[in-house]
Amino acid sequence: MKTVTLSTLRALKHSGETFSCLTAYDASFANAASQAGIDVLLVGDSLGMVLHGHSSTLPVTLDDICYHTRAAAAGKGASLLMADLPFMSNATVERTLNDAAALMRAGAEIIKVEGEAWMADGVRELTRRGVPVCAHLGLTPQTVYQLGGYKVQGRDAEQAERILADARTLVDAGASVILLECVPASLGRAVTEALNVPVIGIGAGPDTDGQILVMHDVLGVSTGHTPRFVKNYMAEADSIQDAFARYHQDVKQRAFPTPAHCF
Ligand code: KIV
Ligand code: NA
Repeated sequence: MKTVTLSTLRALKHSGETFSCLTAYDASFANAASQAGIDVLLVGDSLGMVLHGHSSTLPVTLDDICYHTRAAAAGKGASLLMADLPFMSNATVERTLNDAAALMRAGAEIIKVEGEAWMADGVRELTRRGVPVCAHLGLTPQTVYQLGGYKVQGRDAEQAERILADARTLVDAGASVILLECVPASLGRAVTEALNVPVIGIGAGPDTDGQILVMHDVLGVSTGHTPRFVKNYMAEADSIQDAFARYHQDVKQRAFPTPAHCF
């Protein structure tokens, strides 16, 4: 596989092709995913839940994500490596810059941040300094206590317009990629059509430029509540790498997500 860069994702968007993304937290699974053709690997703060067993992502520290980013970077192959800024890294722009620098030094190639239009200053300053940014909107798990649970966002027209407006503001500030979590498929489509940067979706319908899932959900080893938008590929696969390859193929052929996975 050719090395995946931001230019690759932009070219895929403009040719109407999708790309696959999956979380990875260590070298072995990063290698398996990369070998299976997965375009983007995310060292997500979901590691607090799937690796550490917490009920939210809030306990995850910058050191935790750096540790797993170094490990995943060693196995990432040709895939593009994204890493999450943890809870409260957006407390000040200075902290955002310092925390992003630590993740880039650990091997990240693009940084994902949660936050609405008010995150524009942080996004602008990161971008100015050569750090590509993916802005995560919709269901932002770091604000789960304010949202009152892991719920679909942007259901009414006013909320949907606000998410689209926030996405535009963050792209104007320099965001290279937008990630939408848990929004109606119609909003996933509207944001993807409105923006000229790649849009990644999770529970955001079939029309986003890329799809992402948490690795543990793809392998069917997550505990607790299984969200509607996930699919256990291990059920039909004969190895972990085969499960990753099937997920990748389904994304490329737009066979995943199906309406059963969408809102
Ligand atoms: O932390 C994570 O794994 C994420 C994805 C679910 C998008 O942010
Ligand atoms: Na995350």
